[in-house]
Amino acid sequence: MSSAVAPPAAAVEDVLDDVLDTEAVGPRLATQWLGRRYHHRTEVTSTNDVLTHLAQQGAPAGTVVVAEAQSQGRGRRGRSWQAAPGQNLTFSLLLRPGWRPPRLPPLSLAVGVGLAQALAPWLPCAPQLKWPNDLLVGGRKLAGVLVELAADAQEVRHAVVGIGINVNQLDFPDELSATATSLRREHGAPIGRATVLAAALAALEAPLEAALRDQLGPVLQQWTALAAGLGQSVVVTTPQGAVAGVVSGIDADGALRVRDAEGRERRLLAGDVLLGPRQAGARAEGRD
Ligand code: BTN
Repeated sequence: MSSAVAPPAAAVEDVLDDVLDTEAVGPRLATQWLGRRYHHRTEVTSTNDVLTHLAQQGAPAGTVVVAEAQSQGRGRRGRSWQAAPGQNLTFSLLLRPGWRPPRLPPLSLAVGVGLAQALAPWLPCAPQLKWPNDLLVGGRKLAGVLVELAADAQEVRHAVVGIGINVNQLDFPDELSATATSLRREHGAPIGRATVLAAALAALEAPLEAALRDQLGPVLQQWTALAAGLGQSVVVTTPQGAVAGVVSGIDADGALRVRDAEGRERRLLAGDVLLGPRQAGARAEGRD
């Protein structure tokens, strides 16, 4: 007679909940089109690379690639994206928008709104969105988004939206330890990645559809309600140089509006925001 004791059902459930293969994630998916083609990989250079390759071979819109580990995960502006293997979510999703340049709705803002909604149940306070595509909790980065477009003069052939969410990682490399956080760190307990992934995909569908229809008005209102830095002094590092001023809002195309020291309203289309102190008399709903 075997002395092995079967684990309690709850423990089995927990283990399955952290598995990201098709069999585990498929039954949890509540989406119409997002993730209905699903690829789970053990290690890749970058999920954006794998999905770009699949897109070139004709993969349909909504295809998702998830990896346990990335050897060359990348972030915005040439930075790397570091995520401990097997503990986090690193995934990419494919859109085929058919947009004609230069009409490019701000996809990363739409993604931020969806992620904020999906992850809020595990967080002690509402997450904040830092322009253009960081999701913060208590000032620390929980998730990031990297959108890569394949476009010619006629149209955007496809968009690969890469998303990194820190889920169960507690120890971060020295250079990130003061600025990064994870769902587990905020929630106080491990969380099944399959549940988080399914929640993210479910919450992303509506804002992505709004972006595809170019009807982002309500989504941008939601973004503004969660925005970090509204009414605050900032320095924005842009490809054209640094711009210092107070954030006054966001435009329909996703441009950040910053009022500089001379009172001029600047529209910034790309850059990194360094948050400073909030200005006296700033809007009451501006957040730290
Ligand atoms: C950023 O905050 O700068 C964006 C980070 C995006 C990271 C994700 S992880 C999945 C996908 N694959 C990548 O190489 N990058 C994105």
